Amino acid sequence: MAYDVVIIGSGPGGYVCAIKAAQLGLKTAVVEKNATFGGTCLNIGCIPSKALLHASEMFAEAGHSFDTLGVEVTPKLNLKKMMAHKDATVAANVNGVAFLFKKNKIDSFHGTGKVVAAGRVSVTGEDGKIEEIETRNIVIATGSDVAGIPGVKVDIDEKVIVSSTGALSLAKVPGHLVVVGGGVIGLELGSVWARLGAKVTVVEFLDTILGGMDGEVSKQFHRMLSKQGFEFKLGAKVTGVAKAKKGATVTFEPVKGGAAETIEADAVLIATGRSAYSDSLGLKEAGVEVDERGRVKTDGHLRTNVPGIYAIGDVIAGPMLAHKAEDEGVAVAESIAGQAGHVNYDVIPSVVYTSPEIASVGKTEEELKKAGIDYKAGKFPFTANGRARAMLHTDGFVKILADKASDRVLGVHIVGFGAGEMIHEAAVLMEFGGSSEDLARTCHAHPTMSEAVKEAALATFFKPIHI
Ligand code: NAI
Repeated sequence: MAYDVVIIGSGPGGYVCAIKAAQLGLKTAVVEKNATFGGTCLNIGCIPSKALLHASEMFAEAGHSFDTLGVEVTPKLNLKKMMAHKDATVAANVNGVAFLFKKNKIDSFHGTGKVVAAGRVSVTGEDGKIEEIETRNIVIATGSDVAGIPGVKVDIDEKVIVSSTGALSLAKVPGHLVVVGGGVIGLELGSVWARLGAKVTVVEFLDTILGGMDGEVSKQFHRMLSKQGFEFKLGAKVTGVAKAKKGATVTFEPVKGGAAETIEADAVLIATGRSAYSDSLGLKEAGVEVDERGRVKTDGHLRTNVPGIYAIGDVIAGPMLAHKAEDEGVAVAESIAGQAGHVNYDVIPSVVYTSPEIASVGKTEEELKKAGIDYKAGKFPFTANGRARAMLHTDGFVKILADKASDRVLGVHIVGFGAGEMIHEAAVLMEFGGSSEDLARTCHAHPTMSEAVKEAALATFFKPIHI
């Protein structure tokens, strides 16, 4: 019996694609090599890290800001219990996906999927048995894997030298955690352990953390994290990570040239990016083209060069974000069902779940300058927001960038408590092609942090009221 669509991989891209396809009446199956569904995001990424980020933030707040609020407590860390909360969160989410598969009558095959040719997928089970499935369409949604440090051999044992996976399960709080890479993973997981008491040193190749983010955002955030006790070695290229008798050592040298330095660590987190997981999928034999970085090549409709084979998520080009993969999954399911599936890559929000949070959607100031677009910027700080003051969350600001002539909003950047929730009004506005005046004239409830978004919009098109 042939399927309409077989999806290889059950991360946010794959499982959402499967559910959407089934909802549209397609006979759907998913192939997954892990014991549980949900991929990196649900098992060893977004979800467990958010459980630890929330719990560690509560711990840090109890130790720092509660006293000012008149709540006197002496927090005591129970790391085992915190990890149990993380594990329970993961279990609830992956079981949720299994339930949704059942509810939508999606078949699942446990084993390693391989593209034999258009219309044929093989599944190798743990016992080595191979099963072949016939299908009209194949969706490659195999995600990404830890990239490691380019050109440096590192023995990741997930105990002392860890990737994001091991950093979610350290047995105790390390005295000194060295993070290689000042990107999203390094700063989120670095924050977890810093809040729980570790001294955290981040070694980053670029002269800035969160490269690619709006320059003003990364500069201010660098200052905030330094105030939280983070130490940064910027413009520093890591050339070696080695296990030592006790812990490990990290060696780095200035990118601009100069003497190398070696620091000692109780644990080292390697967070230097992820790479597409496209090996051993049989793509070469099936004639599916990949680019120089191993990412499956797709066209504007997420089709590969082989008819009937699509690819979505981290395994193709673009930001490695769960929600981008989800939207691509929906678009592919719709295309296969004969509808007009589409993803608007201009409006994909991104959130860094640190404290404060960072959220952005659309263009950065640097991108607008580079593209020669005439723009205006409006800013509003949370220090001037009543709700932020009441909650002791005055760190950060909202910045809106709009086209100078049309006032159409082109980018919004928020540093602040709850930024990851607030960004979505900007995303909706931009999806509808709205202007800063549209946003500024939309009534915002008082007192809310979101009023700062309205004030930044006021600042963009005319003048803010409260500053
Ligand atoms: P990243 O690309 O964000 O950051 C890696 C950093 O490592 C870069 O700043 C790079 O300059 C630096 N680096 C590379 N080689 C180096 C060397 N030899 N020495 C020193 N520094 C070096 O990658 P990251 O943080 O590993 O995240 C992987 C992917 O997962 C990203 O695409 C990210 O967007 C995604 N992700 C998204 C999250 C979110 O949306 N909240 C959370 C976690 C991951």
